[in-house]
Amino acid sequence: MRTRPLTLALTLALSLAAGLAAAGEPTTLLGKWMKPNMGAPMAGQDFATLKTSLSLVASKPPPGDYPQWASIATAGAAAAAKQDVAGTKASCKQCHDLYKEKYKKELPTRPFP
Ligand code: HEC
Repeated sequence: MRTRPLTLALTLALSLAAGLAAAGEPTTLLGKWMKPNMGAPMAGQDFATLKTSLSLVASKPPPGDYPQWASIATAGAAAAAKQDVAGTKASCKQCHDLYKEKYKKELPTRPFP
């Protein structure tokens, strides 16, 4: 079959694209809560809401091995209280880099808040 390598390459390209598109969609109850309570206020620079949301997240670390969860969120809440955009975003990024994939894998049905 002369067309087969091309077919394989296309299939691979399509599944990679699908994987990327799915990356930004929340799969957990926490993720669904994050969108209106973290994503929207971050976009609108609503620091009062961000401070409340980050404090709530800090007070509810997930069960299991998430040792930096509370301290990252607490630092984010403190940055939001000072209207510090970079500091607030840093806490989003740190937690997502460390724990997003792990949380999605381990706690798909954990209730939040
Ligand atoms: C202490 C941990 C933690 C902090 C801090 C945190 N997040 Fe999240 N966030 C998560 C986890 C875990 C998920 C994955 C859950 C999912 O997608 O179902 C997530 C998912 C999301 C999602 C859902 C879509 C996606 O990208 O997966 C948005 C939007 C989001 N966070 C925004 C924010 C913003 C904005 C901030 C900072 C203001 C923030 N988060 C801070 C842990 C955190």
